[in-house]
Amino acid sequence: MTKPKITVVVLAAGLGTRMKSQTPKVLHRIAGRPMIAHLMAGLETLNPERLVVVVSDDSRQQVANAIAPHQCVVQQSQLGTGDAVKSAGQIIGGFDGDVLVVYGDTPLVSPETLEKMLDTRRAAPKPAVVVLGFRPADPGTYGRLITTGTSSLEAIVEAGDASEDQLALDLCNSGVMAIDGKCLSGLLDRLDSDNANGEYYLTDIVALACADGRECAYVEAAADELVGINSRSDLAAVEAMAQDRLRASAMAGGATLIAPESVHFSFDTKIGSDVTIAPHVFFGPGVSIADNVEIRSFSHIEGATIASGAIIGPFARLRPGADIGENAHIGNFVEIKNTTVEPGAKANHLSYIGDARIGARANIGAGTITCNYDGFNKHHTDIGADVFVGSNVSLVAPVKLGDGSAIGAGSVVTRDIAPDALALERTDMKEIEGAARRIRENKQSEKKG
Ligand code: UD1
Ligand code: MG
Repeated sequence: MTKPKITVVVLAAGLGTRMKSQTPKVLHRIAGRPMIAHLMAGLETLNPERLVVVVSDDSRQQVANAIAPHQCVVQQSQLGTGDAVKSAGQIIGGFDGDVLVVYGDTPLVSPETLEKMLDTRRAAPKPAVVVLGFRPADPGTYGRLITTGTSSLEAIVEAGDASEDQLALDLCNSGVMAIDGKCLSGLLDRLDSDNANGEYYLTDIVALACADGRECAYVEAAADELVGINSRSDLAAVEAMAQDRLRASAMAGGATLIAPESVHFSFDTKIGSDVTIAPHVFFGPGVSIADNVEIRSFSHIEGATIASGAIIGPFARLRPGADIGENAHIGNFVEIKNTTVEPGAKANHLSYIGDARIGARANIGAGTITCNYDGFNKHHTDIGADVFVGSNVSLVAPVKLGDGSAIGAGSVVTRDIAPDALALERTDMKEIEGAARRIRENKQSEKKG
């Protein structure tokens, strides 16, 4: 039997006023990517025929960019969740399959939970609506599920319209619903706004379907999957949960996190086994780490690839395009950007290396700077294999240091250096015999006099 088709409608047109932000709520980031992108990635695993996001006119452009290639539809005025689903009417009208409605601001709901709802929708007695329920610590303003028996649902009552007895119920509406596509439009057409908020409530379709003699049901999920984000504090709470999951998965993959609570990952951080991460390390998006790598404290790493055996930090900064080879060492206060560091090379102290290649086994002395930017353009620095760069050297790009060359400390290198050559660029040192003593004695006699 072929599986029924799925259309997913993501509601994201709400104003999100409590975020106090110019950025649409669903674009605030969790673990380095917009919350709606987390949700969409999970939804894609359900292989829906269509995945459409309902947005407000104001946020359309920004949200459309974040969810491409999926489609956005605009809800002209925010008249409630029922009206929001209706805005997607052209796409879902008479759809012969399941329509799954989820909220853009509830990004942790798992595909497994959604599958469970879809299974319930498809099994006898084929309920018209399956609602995802949960029991939050504080039911507060959530809608309450009015149930009969173990899994039948009669209605959802919004907190503002609920009686005292109904408010005492702890089983709440998460907002997620799986609906029979064939009857959805008919149900939406019959919604009215005769309620405490004057809104068209999607939740009213349950009572309407029951009145038609259709069965409705609910499925329960853990409260921590269904935390909604309405404020910056909610955002921080969900971030903390996402970080816990990422840390657990890094450790399950064979990484040692000495103080897990102090390590911040991005959604896509890839970590091999036998990697040790010391306390206080930040991973931005796009980081990939092979096996047997050591990341020392206070390092900030994004858009970087680190090969096996490398040692990074403490206090290292790897920026996008840092490609660190096997057994290379990047030490304290070293910043690397758009640079390939070949196997065994070392830059251990106080350097900026940008738009460069550091050849295999080369040693970059303390305080070495690639002067990659002339105020208008960026230029490349090519450092060959086995090069020795002394301390406090400025490499004025574009410049090339041949294999095996050496650069004396303090040099400003402005042209290419041949392989195996020694380059020195300093004025000759003077030594004036006894001068320090003479100056000291003069100063001391001035003081006495
Ligand atoms: C809704 C439910 C409530 C449930 C709660 C769970 C209704 C009537 N109530 O209440 O039963 O317990 O969610 O969090 O559905 N949205 C639009 N257009 C609108 C209004 C809302 O797209 O006109 C979107 C929002 O962006 C959000 C979602 O729908 O993603 C929920 O809206 P919200 O206003 O937060 O609903 P609640 O009052 O929390
Ligand atoms: Mg809400």
